[in-house]
Amino acid sequence: MDGKRASESFSVMKELVLPNDTNGFGNLMGGRLMYWMDIAASMAAMKHCNAPCMTASVDNLSFKNPIKLGNIVSIEARVTRAFNTSMEIHLKVIGEDTLHQYQYESNEAYFTFVALDPNRKPRPVPALIPETPEEIALYDGALRRRQLRLILAGKLKPDDANELKALFVPNK
Ligand SMILES: CC(C)(COP(=O)(O)OP(=O)(O)OC[C@H]1O[C@@H](n2cnc3c(N)ncnc32)[C@H](O)[C@@H]1OP(=O)(O)O)[C@@H](O)C(=O)NCCC(=O)NCCS
Repeated sequence: MDGKRASESFSVMKELVLPNDTNGFGNLMGGRLMYWMDIAASMAAMKHCNAPCMTASVDNLSFKNPIKLGNIVSIEARVTRAFNTSMEIHLKVIGEDTLHQYQYESNEAYFTFVALDPNRKPRPVPALIPETPEEIALYDGALRRRQLRLILAGKLKPDDANELKALFVPNK
């Protein structure tokens, strides 16, 4: 299977924050944003592997800045690395106040998607080819993040997480 460039699946999703999307403070509800992030991530994942995909996990999500009613939300979704049947997607969320003409970073997160075959079983995905310095940095860190999330999910023994351990235990 040929590899695919990160730029081929890069996706941007935009939404206007309407009253029905907000909480009691007039800001975008976190749950609505997570829903949109899941959709943006799935678009990037499906574009990368050209197959139906399922959300396998969502890493830590912290909301730095609230997005206000009437502002535009831009969600940038980029596949950082593909493994065997799974892909890590980086999401960057930016708010935009069009009246006062400024943008602000809201949050970022990593999602993992798994490609499925017609029997809904995990199927192999193409390798990802990073090109820009940002894509290469995201690619390089993906293995460690994967090991950490698999440990937290109880699917990997800490002793087997070699890349992660190398961060803490210097080579002799
Ligand atoms: C995600 C899912 C398809 C994985 O299936 P599985 O039978 O556990 O398959 P495997 O153990 O072979 O794992 C398949 C891949 O998923 C990855 N994976 C499984 N659990 C994961 C987790 N918690 N976090 C990150 N990746 C995970 C594995 O590392 C593997 O990746 P790889 O092939 O690239 O190495 C399955 O757990 C599932 O269907 N979960 C429900 C998903 C869902 O309903 N999502 C919508 C939200 S409700």
